[in-house]
Parts: sequence; structure tokens; C-alpha cells
Amino acid sequence: MIQRGRFITLEGSEGVGKSTNVAFVEAWLKEQGLEVVRTREPGGTPRAEAIRALLLDPSFEEPLNSDAELLLMFAARAQHLAQKIVPALERGAWVVCDRFTDATFAYQGGGRGIDSTRIATLEHFVQQGLSPDLTLLLDMSPAAAKVRLEGRLRDQQTERDRFEQEQATFFQAVRQAYLARAASDTKRFALIDAEQPLESVQAALADVLAERMALWR
Ligand code: TMP
Repeated sequence: MIQRGRFITLEGSEGVGKSTNVAFVEAWLKEQGLEVVRTREPGGTPRAEAIRALLLDPSFEEPLNSDAELLLMFAARAQHLAQKIVPALERGAWVVCDRFTDATFAYQGGGRGIDSTRIATLEHFVQQGLSPDLTLLLDMSPAAAKVRLEGRLRDQQTERDRFEQEQATFFQAVRQAYLARAASDTKRFALIDAEQPLESVQAALADVLAERMALWR
């Protein structure tokens, strides 16, 4: 029987260095000889990416209702799970996902103020018990994350998306919600101080991965 692959997610606010570190985790696991599928949320498949574009588009004058935002996140997730994540795990591949449902609890829960029990209802409906085996939470003060985000926007000359346009209080609430979730499930979460130099962040990631792999063997 093929052993199911492991499901690893990376989380954190904008500007914490998630993209660089998702690539690092993917490369580290591949070096161990594993088949790795790297993906992201919202998105990860063509239709889910189309939902992502709608979610991030800042150009509508009409505001996006927060329940509609929540349901679109889960619609994209249902598609992503069915088309990509579950088939990969079932064939024994490891999935490394840039954000997953913890982001919904942090952004739509903490940031938008949606009650977490309503989010949990959708989580059960869509995921039917599936959840990450390990979640790497990259944590940084909102002030430091803001400096990094501004640098990235300048370098890439990109427009702010709908979330990047939010105010500091929104990102403080997102961070607090992430930290509260990490504190309530220390078995699944590993909290990484992302304010350290990149080499130290990646050394910490490699330590966590090595420790978990030894446990899962
Ligand atoms: P990113 O993938 O470039 O970080 O951007 C995705 C944005 O979507 C980011 O601002 C966080 C937000 N988001 C949510 O609000 N809820 C979610 O469930 C997910 C997956 C992302």
C-alpha cells in the first residue's frame, strides 16, 4: 500500500518572507528524495486561481462583503483540494502549500471579525477532517513586515492588492489570530521568528523539518 504523503503549510502576514521560504522548504524536502508538490492558496489550480484573481482585485468600487470573501476562499479551497492536494497526497507526494485554512481564521476571522465557529463549520464541510500535518508560522512584528512589503512592491513595481491595501490595525489583528492558533495547537504548529537573518530562519526551518521527519518515519 502506498503511504499517504505529508501536508505542510506555511503561514504568516504579508512581508514575512513566505515565498522565499516556501521555495526553501520545497528544495529541502526534494533533497531528501521526496516527491514534492508546491502550491498556494487561494489558488493552486486554474479555476482556483481565477477565484484568487477575483479576491485580490482592488479595482471594483463595490466593496466585497466579508461573508462572500469567506465563501470564495473556501470555494477556491474545495477546488484545490479535489483537483490537486488530495490526489497528490494519495499518490504519496508531499504537499507544501503557501497558506491554507489558518489564513482564513487569521484574515477573515482576526482581520474581518468573522466568528471563528462559522469558519470552523465551513472548514469541516470542505475539508472533512483533512488538515495539515505541520504548519510553519513565520512571525514578525507588523512594523518590520510593512517595511519588507513596501520594499517588495517597489522592487516589483506592482500595485497593492485588496489585502495589501489594509491598514496596520488589520495586520495586527491577523498576527494576533495566527499567534493564538499556534499557541492552541503546539503539536501541529512550529513558530519561526522571521525577523532573524534569512540564514537563521532557514536553519530553524530545516531543524523543524528534520525533527518532524524523524517522528513520522
Ligand atoms: P499571498 O498568497 O500573495 O500572500 O496573497 C493572498 C492573500 O489572501 C493574502 O493577503 C492573504 C489572503 N488570504 C485570506 O485572506 N484568507 C485565506 O484563507 C487565504 C488562503 C489567503
